[in-house]
Amino acid sequence: MKRIGVLTSGGDAPGMNAAVRAAVRTGLSMGMEVYGIERGYEGLLDGEMEKMEWHSVGDILQRGGTILRTARSERFRTEEGQKHAVDMLETFGIEGLVVIGGDGSFHGGLELARKGVAVMGVPGTIDNDLAYTDYTIGFDTAVNTVLAMISNLRDTASAHERTTIVEVMGRSCGDIALYAGLAGGADVILVPEVEPDINMVCRRVLRGQQSGKLHSIIVKAEGVKISSAELASVVEKKTGRETRFVVPGYIQRGGTPSGRDRLLASMMSSKAVKLLFNDEQSKAIGINGSDIVAYDLADALDMKSEFRKDLYDIAETLA
Ligand code: F6P
Repeated sequence: MKRIGVLTSGGDAPGMNAAVRAAVRTGLSMGMEVYGIERGYEGLLDGEMEKMEWHSVGDILQRGGTILRTARSERFRTEEGQKHAVDMLETFGIEGLVVIGGDGSFHGGLELARKGVAVMGVPGTIDNDLAYTDYTIGFDTAVNTVLAMISNLRDTASAHERTTIVEVMGRSCGDIALYAGLAGGADVILVPEVEPDINMVCRRVLRGQQSGKLHSIIVKAEGVKISSAELASVVEKKTGRETRFVVPGYIQRGGTPSGRDRLLASMMSSKAVKLLFNDEQSKAIGINGSDIVAYDLADALDMKSEFRKDLYDIAETLA
């Protein structure tokens, strides 16, 4: 393979730049030409791409966001759009594609793969919701960002003797809430994978109050089917303690990537490009334990997520 493309797609994640850098520099070091495609599949459809050089990806390793920019492309969801994307790749002579993104981006990549394009999926999403890999790029940074926020909230919640609900991102996956809740010592963790029990939440808060705790922290994933406002109102009524909620939103998606995310990004992207160089079929790159792995793209997307009940149980015991 002589010429490959790289794009970032869907919600950005810290570490995407590190993944772009690794894709470009691995490709160049193997004698390939690497094209950076802007604004994900949207830019591919419009032919927005340029040849990347070694220095094109200088000084980006430590930056959040993505220098290639990203988009959620409606046009690309259609059969017509996908055919046009294949035509564009042919026009530019691009034989293989590194897609850095989440579930939706991988499904888009699979459609291209079915039309004969060699696609390597590199998991870039803060949600950690791709079943085939232990971790996705950006998740670790997002968890650490939430941890810093929990720390700040603890100070002010204690000062006012309040209960604070922190609503974190993750779509229908509770991993950000679970990991940040456990590492941040939350009193209650609410995730979509476990049916919420509001009475239990109130009992836990009351138990803390009765034992002299000045505050309670509840970490709730956005995918839990009760709004934070509603939950705050019920908890306040039932416990008699002022209850506030905070939705940090996009703050979780920005910021300098953690060392772990930079490492993951560098290892995964470099694997993706080496597989393209060897003319491999489309794959999803992931990490299993400490091993970088590559699964057939369609098989990877068929895998079902397993909730980390072990972590949830530890959090329950330690709360
Ligand atoms: O997939 C990443 C993510 O940040 C989710 O956690 C969140 O639900 C969603 O994207 C927000 O999407 P948008 O950027 O379109 O508002």
